[in-house]
Amino acid sequence: MIGDFMLWLEETGSTQNILKEFSFPYGTVVVANRQWEGRGRFGRKWHSEEGGLYFSFLLRAEDFKELLPLPLVVGYGVLLQIERKGFKPMLKWVNDVYVSGKKVCGVLVERSKEKVVVGVGINLNQKEFPSDLMATSLYMLRNEVFEKKDFLLETLEILDRVLEEFKNFGFEKFRPAIRQRLMFLGEEVVVYSQEPVVGIFEDIDQEGSLLLRTAQGLLKFNAGKVSLRGSKIF
Ligand code: ATP
Ligand code: BTN
Repeated sequence: MIGDFMLWLEETGSTQNILKEFSFPYGTVVVANRQWEGRGRFGRKWHSEEGGLYFSFLLRAEDFKELLPLPLVVGYGVLLQIERKGFKPMLKWVNDVYVSGKKVCGVLVERSKEKVVVGVGINLNQKEFPSDLMATSLYMLRNEVFEKKDFLLETLEILDRVLEEFKNFGFEKFRPAIRQRLMFLGEEVVVYSQEPVVGIFEDIDQEGSLLLRTAQGLLKFNAGKVSLRGSKIF
């Protein structure tokens, strides 16, 4: 089970690196109170000041028939936990959770051979962010402090259940619930792959890929090196 073995550090470069560089049993969770080199996708910086919840866990690639939808499924697990606390979160395809238009969680999946390292950053109790970030924390949204250890254990319990279902039944099982909580669904968006493409975010398919209705027809983007923006901020 995820979290049977856990390492809780006061500070580290990135919890991702600990699991990548050392040998731990599958399911191990590494948590840090602060990271000095927290990262997001494409090597972007992940602000990891005191107050946030930063953890990574180790999965085995061969346990999964499909890995592409993993960020979406993990994001959905975190979203369920945030919903349980009474918020109305949305999933921003493919790896982010937003509340009230601001980002509260990001998921990073990195693979090296059989190891799949999943990193989750949740903005829990931070009191502020740089204004250019479009970020918020659960504390800032409700003026309530969340107990980090409890929040982590509850989240891991949900992730364990969700990932077990993903292993056994695949992404299809999650598609309806995820679709209901997708940001920008049915709206005009810009998808950044090689070059920006504008279209209507029509749906996600059985692999979690984004289907974009454009003047050239229906285009499909898988999670790879693709970013999504609402066209209003374009
Ligand atoms: P996309 O996932 O579509 O590419 P994104 O801008 O969210 O969009 P990510 O790579 O997912 O990109 O996340 C990294 C970005 O998240 C950073 O470039 C920064 O803008 C933002 N960010 C960094 N730290 C935090 C944080 N603690 N909370 C919220 N957002 C953050
Ligand atoms: C993103 O939005 O691009 C993903 C952000 C992932 C951040 C988490 S925090 C724990 C783990 N360690 C890292 O350096 N990154 C992930």
